Amino acid sequence: MTSAAAPPGGLAPDAVGTPDPHVIVLFGATGDLAKRKLLPGLLHLLCSGLAPERLRIVGTSTSVLSDEEFRELACASVQEFGKEDLVGDAWERFALLLSFATSGTEGDSGAVLAARVREAEQEIGGEARLLHFLSVPPKATPAIIRELGANGLAERARVVLEKPFGTDLASARELNATVHEVFGEEQVFRIDHFLGKEAVQNILALRFANGLFEPIWNRDHVASVQIDVPEKLSVGTRAGFYEGTGAYRDMVVTHLFQVLGFLAMEPPTSLEPKTLADEKAKVFEALRPLDPDAVVRGQYDGYRDVDGVAPDSETETFVALRAEVENWRWQGVPFFLRTGKCLAAGQRVVTIMLREPALQMFHHGTGVHDAHPNALLFDLGDPGSITAEFLAKEPGATMRIASARMTFSYEQSFQAANQLEAYERLIHDVMIGDRMLFNRADGIERLWEISTPLLEDPPPIHPYAAGSSGPAEADALVAPGRWHLDEGH
Ligand code: BG6
Repeated sequence: MTSAAAPPGGLAPDAVGTPDPHVIVLFGATGDLAKRKLLPGLLHLLCSGLAPERLRIVGTSTSVLSDEEFRELACASVQEFGKEDLVGDAWERFALLLSFATSGTEGDSGAVLAARVREAEQEIGGEARLLHFLSVPPKATPAIIRELGANGLAERARVVLEKPFGTDLASARELNATVHEVFGEEQVFRIDHFLGKEAVQNILALRFANGLFEPIWNRDHVASVQIDVPEKLSVGTRAGFYEGTGAYRDMVVTHLFQVLGFLAMEPPTSLEPKTLADEKAKVFEALRPLDPDAVVRGQYDGYRDVDGVAPDSETETFVALRAEVENWRWQGVPFFLRTGKCLAAGQRVVTIMLREPALQMFHHGTGVHDAHPNALLFDLGDPGSITAEFLAKEPGATMRIASARMTFSYEQSFQAANQLEAYERLIHDVMIGDRMLFNRADGIERLWEISTPLLEDPPPIHPYAAGSSGPAEADALVAPGRWHLDEGH
């Protein structure tokens, strides 16, 4: 078997590797993520020429489905959520790759799956690499890992683990230990789809490919940082997962802290996966354990009426908090994080709030005090944008100062048509063995460690109206400042 080497640095457009022949085993194949992202994403990879020529996809879940029924489910998923026009042979080619094995209902379900995998390998002409994508709730992971080991499915395999990786420090350590009983760390890919977003990777490009920004990237120039990810979505049909998870575990300890890692890290000596992970780990090491008094938890009105939610549920659907990175670069600069469901806006924005000039030459009457201070905004949407907010003179005979903006938009500047969605990019990375955008066990365990004070002593839940910007208590966190998004940015 040819083994595609990880491209050094991973981001060079001409370094795209060709994956080895693969059998992808999709655990949770009938679930929400598979329908919305994974099945449509795999079809898109196939159509973009980024999937291996010799490929099979074995779906598995506790649902009892025939191969044909799984194909129908996949067809409905790509029709609803995919980019591909299903006219033409793309769908036909994709459908032929799919088969299904029911798991967990019989004692020998591991053996049944193994037989389907071997069949799939035969169909593509012998030994292939296996990619096990575990899109399952955390409690299901250990049994699957052991079953893979017991049935010889860990050889030539890589395993993708979905967040949350455990639910606290003890369970994260236990999960990592279980995974390592069967897989070597080099086979394990802990996925955080935020890191697959173009705009999040662009934080690295903006910081380290330019001489323009890095000199101001520190406590002397940055007053505070906001990582703000409000969602309009409710928990929808995911109450079963969400009720045991909540906004902190679903979004903060995973996505928002990973973005913080990219924002706050020291310049790495290269973009090698180990170097990047080392720098991120140092940021997490420097994070002060969370102070429950600097955390606001909320729950939208009506959440407790959702099917599958306890009538007295204390699960938070909103969380805002202040984090502190205690190192020379960031000492005294608060990082404010906020996210929640059923809010007024659906956005993903990082705001770097800059300090005011040392000497203010423009006085009252010029408008300078009514204008917003300087800020750099990263819109992490797909495809995203970066905006600099600054002050400028209004045209006219008097010296009037007003807010101005300069925006770089992906869509207008680059061929966004070549863009891969986050999951597509990351699945392709796994197939070529590029670990740059994946999380290491030590970083994750450290994030649970700093979460311990909050998890052991969570502050009370504040109700908020659906469609609002969350409980008012979250405003007090950033006072005397404000959440930048709430100011209409
Ligand atoms: C997922 C969370 O990881 O990220 C969801 O489980 C959330 O609750 C989603 O809605 C947000 O991702 P994106 O890419 O839509 O911003």
